[in-house]
Amino acid sequence: MKNEILNLLLKENKISKEAAEEFSIYDIDGLMNTIKNVGKEKTEHIQRDKIIDGLDSPLFKENIYVYKEVMSTNTLAKFFADQGQDEETVVISEKQTKGRGRSGKKWESPLGGVWLTMIVKPRIDQTKASLITLATGVAVANTIKSFGIENVEIKWPNDILIDGKKVSGILTEAVAKLNSIKYIVIGVGIDVSLENNKMSGDLKEEAISLNKASGAKVDANEVIKRFLKEFEIIFKMFEDEKYEEILKEWRKDSYSIGKYAKIRQPFGNSFDAYIIGINKEGTLIVEKADGTLEKVISGEFEIKD
Ligand code: BTN
Repeated sequence: MKNEILNLLLKENKISKEAAEEFSIYDIDGLMNTIKNVGKEKTEHIQRDKIIDGLDSPLFKENIYVYKEVMSTNTLAKFFADQGQDEETVVISEKQTKGRGRSGKKWESPLGGVWLTMIVKPRIDQTKASLITLATGVAVANTIKSFGIENVEIKWPNDILIDGKKVSGILTEAVAKLNSIKYIVIGVGIDVSLENNKMSGDLKEEAISLNKASGAKVDANEVIKRFLKEFEIIFKMFEDEKYEEILKEWRKDSYSIGKYAKIRQPFGNSFDAYIIGINKEGTLIVEKADGTLEKVISGEFEIKD
């Protein structure tokens, strides 16, 4: 296949069976293999060899793919999963041209970050799927702490903060068939060395990088290696249904519990509330001004002073 076509497919959000057909590529398995091979070629800033060398994570070791530039590692991972790619795969890119954040927001992804997506197929009930995002948050927080960085907290559901500033975000997308989970892709973005002015609008002021927080040059390959190990530990707990233990760890690092906040729900509904905690499903429980309790399943909030 011509390289220009492959680059276009990777960069321009053209990764799907239908899009490939548009380019007269009917051999989807061949396309998939070509893309996999590109993911094993040498890259400059993030290096597959360095990640694999001494990686103590049998879960992902066999299926790590690193790219120079893709539109979104989540989109590419979904293409992989749809083509029946083995579970426990990690897709990493040095840059993303169409990085995606939560609530349909754009996620700036230049050089200087860790942009990765894992494919997992946990043998769990669909109702437990949202807990995997919380579990991933714990894995990211533990990874950051392992670099000696203090004051690491998790803002519900999945922003990781250092000194109250965002350093990482998680975008989980589950694909279900009937009542069971076909696969889940978990996208993780970590700011390793970005300057604030390279971040998306509302992150400009509030973001922090690992370099800035640690006062040293942090190696992105090492971040990935430590994260995959941490994720493997928590994923095992998840598969063993140790949900309470995961929630306990999450609550220990929570930024939100016990604070007053303005809750903004989808469709513009917003109200002030006191954050009581999270329940077994990972849903946020808040108390409104009139004393009634409310479950917040999705939405954003700002802590009030
Ligand atoms: C958020 O809004 O906080 C979630 C951001 C998730 C960004 C990561 S970067 C790797 C993966 N690929 C994407 O397009 N998004 C996620």
